[in-house]
Amino acid sequence: MQIKLDDLSTPLTYFTMTQAVLPRPIAWILSENDDASFNLAPFSYFNAICSDPPLVMVSIGLQENGSEKDSLRNIKQRSQFVIHIASCDQLPELNQSSATLPPGESEVLANNLQTTPVEGFHMPRLSDCKIALMCERYQIQTIGNSNQQSLLFGEIREIYVDDSCVEINDQGRLKILADQVRPLARLGASQFASFGDVLVVQRPA
Ligand SMILES: Cc1cc2nc3c(=O)[nH]c(=O)nc-3n(C[C@H](O)[C@H](O)[C@H](O)COP(=O)(O)O)c2cc1C
Repeated sequence: MQIKLDDLSTPLTYFTMTQAVLPRPIAWILSENDDASFNLAPFSYFNAICSDPPLVMVSIGLQENGSEKDSLRNIKQRSQFVIHIASCDQLPELNQSSATLPPGESEVLANNLQTTPVEGFHMPRLSDCKIALMCERYQIQTIGNSNQQSLLFGEIREIYVDDSCVEINDQGRLKILADQVRPLARLGASQFASFGDVLVVQRPA
């Protein structure tokens, strides 16, 4: 089957694209509300895109009523935010945190999640996530026609990895153990993927 996107409406394009780009990592983003409570939401238009400076990118759309999502508004106002890599067993809380709560109402409190302070960084991280990327807003660009997306570029200042997921090899090189992190991935529609096998191959010369 060959699918021509020109023939599809925007919602169908989204539906088709997100079932074809598989699997996608999920940025579980903690940002600070105006009243200093914390906002939490998942975004799977997400990836690492540059090492110097160390940048990630998240594409944030508008709410159904056309207004800005709380995460984007918060990060425009206060530069710091924290991206978490959720484990497979955190799917219920992650999914629940995508509910649209009134601005200022915290998905962290609503889901009984705990936070832990991060030394040298204003924002805390979610206590139960194995990986957290402490980020600062680097740039925001707007793209799109009918459905505007904000491309949020975040510069990673610091990375937290739970000690149970780290190994230092004989050469003193740090290795993050993906099978201990067991990252949750997003598929199309309401499907997610759990972590599979780690395959190791050497790069060709
Ligand atoms: C797994 C998952 C991935 C999502 N990915 C995105 C995304 O990449 N971009 C986006 O704008 N919304 C995405 N959403 C929807 C947002 O999480 C949702 O709009 C949320 O309410 C935004 O929260 P906020 O207004 O507190 O920022 C996703 C939802 C789920 C469950």
